[in-house]
Amino acid sequence: MSLKVVILAAGKGTRMRSSLPKVLQPLAKRPLLSHVIATAEKLGASDILAVIGHGAEDVQKQIQSEHLHFVMQESQLGTGHAVQQAVDLIQDEDDVLILYGDVPLTRVETLQGLLSQLSQEHPLALLTTKLEDATGYGRIVRNTKQQVTAIVEEKDANNEQKHIKEINTGIMASKGQSLKKWLGQLSNENAQGEYYLTDIIAMCVEDGFFVETAQPASLMEVLGVNNKQQLQDLERQYQAALANELMEKGVTLIDVNRVDIRGELEVGQDVEIDVNVVFEGKVTLGDGVKIGANCIIKDCSLADNTVVEAFSHLDEAEIGANCVIGPYARIRPGTVLSEKVKIGNFVETKKAVIGTGSKVNHLSYVGDTVMGENCNIGAGTITCNYDGVNKYQTKIGDNVFVGSASQLVAPVEVERGATIGAGSTITKTAPADELTLSRSKQLTIKGWQKPTKKEKH
Ligand code: UD1
Ligand code: CA
Repeated sequence: MSLKVVILAAGKGTRMRSSLPKVLQPLAKRPLLSHVIATAEKLGASDILAVIGHGAEDVQKQIQSEHLHFVMQESQLGTGHAVQQAVDLIQDEDDVLILYGDVPLTRVETLQGLLSQLSQEHPLALLTTKLEDATGYGRIVRNTKQQVTAIVEEKDANNEQKHIKEINTGIMASKGQSLKKWLGQLSNENAQGEYYLTDIIAMCVEDGFFVETAQPASLMEVLGVNNKQQLQDLERQYQAALANELMEKGVTLIDVNRVDIRGELEVGQDVEIDVNVVFEGKVTLGDGVKIGANCIIKDCSLADNTVVEAFSHLDEAEIGANCVIGPYARIRPGTVLSEKVKIGNFVETKKAVIGTGSKVNHLSYVGDTVMGENCNIGAGTITCNYDGVNKYQTKIGDNVFVGSASQLVAPVEVERGATIGAGSTITKTAPADELTLSRSKQLTIKGWQKPTKKEKH
C-alpha cells in the first residue's frame, strides 16, 4: 500500500485580484502550494498529484518537489472533476488523501490521524470542524445515530441544513478502489452544475459503509485563502504560532507580534530576539545568541553567544562564537567569521573569511578577502576588489594593522604583522612586520593669504 496525495490547485482565485495564480501567493515567503506539498512529503507520499489549471505554466515553473507530478484540469468543472483528472495515477490498493492548494497549514499529525481511520470497512474519512458561521461551506449531515449520511453544499442546502454548524473542510481520505468507483458515478445535477467531490459521501453510505470523521486541533489548520485579507490573516496566525513555538523552546521574545520567520529557524538555549526581526531561509542560532531590533537574517548560522546589534542585515554567512556585529552592519554572502570577530557600524563584508579576534569596526568594505587573526582594520578601509570586469582577492596576514581611509587594491597582499599608514593606497605586497604607506608628503605654505571677498561695483 502506498499513499497518494491529490492537491486541488486548479482554481483561479479571482478575489486575489492578482496576476499571480492563487496557489503561488506567498505565505511566510513561500507559495501556498509549497506548504501543502511539504506536508505531503512529510506524510511520506509515494506520489503527490497536483491538479492545476489556471496559471498552470507558472505553477509548473515555480514548484518542484521529489514526488510531485502535475495533472492538468483544462476547465474547472468542480472538485469531483478535478480529482477525476488524477484517477489514472491512483491504484486500487492506494490510500488517497485529498488536500487543497490554498489550505496551507494543516498539521502532519492531524492528517496522520485522518489517514489512520481508513480500513476496508471504513473506506472514507473526512476532516470536519464546527463553525459558528458556516456560510459558504458544505454541511455535514448526520442521522439520529450521529452517523454521517451526506455533505450538502450551501447552495443546495435547505433551511434546516443551513443551521448545521459542522462543516466539510474539504480534506478527506479514501481507499483508492472505492474512490475510483465513486468518482465514476458523479453527476453535475446540482445548483452549481458542478461535479461535486462531496457527493461521494452519500455513495459511501449507500454502499453500506460508515464514514469516519476527524477534527483538526485548531481552526488555522483548515483555513483557506481567497483574498488578500485572508492571506494576511493567515500569515499573522502562522507567525503567532511560530513565535509561540520559539518561546516553548526557551527563546526570549520582546514582542511576540514583531518577529517573522520565513523559513526554518533553529535555536539553542537562552536566545534573545528584540523587535522587528525577520528570519529567512535556514537560520541557526547557537546558545546565548542575541539579535537586536530591526535585523534581517537570511540563510545564516550564528554560533554561541554572538550578538547582532540593531539594524543589521546578514545574508548567507557563517558566524563563529562570541562575535559582535553591527549596529548597521551588512554581512553579504560568503562571509565566514571565526570567533570573537567584531564587525561594526556601516561595514559591508562579502566573500570575506576573517580570523579570530579581528576587528573591522567602522565604515569599511571588505570583499573577496582572506584575513588572519587579531587584525585591526581602520575606519573607511576599502578593499578595491573589482576592476570593472573581474574580481580579485586581498590577502591579509595575522596581526595586521591597517590605518584609516586606506585602499587595498586587489590582487594584493598585506603580510603578517604589517602596518599600513592611514590614507594609503596599497597596490603591491606590504611586507611582514614593516610600516608601509603611500601618501604624498604633508606640505605647509608659509605666509599664505586667505582670499578676501571682492567688492561689487
Ligand atoms: C468545497 C467543498 C465544500 C467545502 C469547501 C471548503 C465541494 C463540492 N465543496 O467548496 O464542501 O466546505 O470546499 O473550503 O467539494 N478546484 C479545482 N478544480 C475545480 C474546482 C475547484 O482545482 O474544478 C480547487 C480550487 O482551486 C480550491 C478547491 O478545489 O482549491 C476548492 O474549490 P472551491 O471552489 O473553493 O470549493 P467550494 O465551493 O468552496
Ligand atoms: Ca473555497
